[in-house]
Amino acid sequence: MSEDVVIRRAQPGDAGALVELAEAVASEPEGWLISKGAWRTVSEERRFLRALRRYSDATVFLAATSDGIVGRLSLGRDPHPASRHVADLGLMVAAGHRRRGIGRALLDEAVLWARQVGVRKLELHVFPHNEAALALYARFGFRQEGYRRGHYRRGEDLLDAILMAYDVD
Ligand SMILES: CC(C)(COP(=O)(O)OP(=O)(O)OC[C@H]1O[C@@H](n2cnc3c(N)ncnc32)[C@H](O)[C@@H]1OP(=O)(O)O)[C@@H](O)C(=O)NCCC(=O)NCCS
Repeated sequence: MSEDVVIRRAQPGDAGALVELAEAVASEPEGWLISKGAWRTVSEERRFLRALRRYSDATVFLAATSDGIVGRLSLGRDPHPASRHVADLGLMVAAGHRRRGIGRALLDEAVLWARQVGVRKLELHVFPHNEAALALYARFGFRQEGYRRGHYRRGEDLLDAILMAYDVD
């Protein structure tokens, strides 16, 4: 990475900065994320992060620089016994810090977490117009597993999504 970046688990005290990051990325006009602006409130995010301390099936990692929190990766394991080896992943990096290896570093951390907890497969949804994310995931080793038509509702629109997956060795 080309700057001084720390990757670590998110703590309840990070809630304010994480919500600010999510709202900034969600309100970018290109529509990278499912939500369009207003996300969780800070107190909801704080409660969520506090609950994760006692819950080993989900986690949130963040990337911090001297500018503050600039990246977030969330993981949640499938609760069904037949698919507990699968975890869903969400990722965002602040616009001013992209193309510096932060997304890749957060994905590396996700793979380490997966190995630790016995998750064998990481999966995610990405919008077909999101060329940056598609390039990152493909380069990292994710493969396309499906194309889901009208899978997400945003306002009046139903949006398609590409399903991608990564096998954890
Ligand atoms: C997608 C996203 C997470 C990538 O994060 P990032 O920190 O910029 O990614 P990295 O710097 O680690 O990129 C690693 C590699 O991915 C590929 N890549 C990343 N962004 C790219 C872009 N805009 N165009 C082409 N390739 C890209 C490149 O191969 C890159 O390596 P390189 O810079 O050495 O060429 C970031 O653009 C983002 O947060 N976008 C908005 C939110 C979002 O789309 N989240 C994903 C929803 S599924």
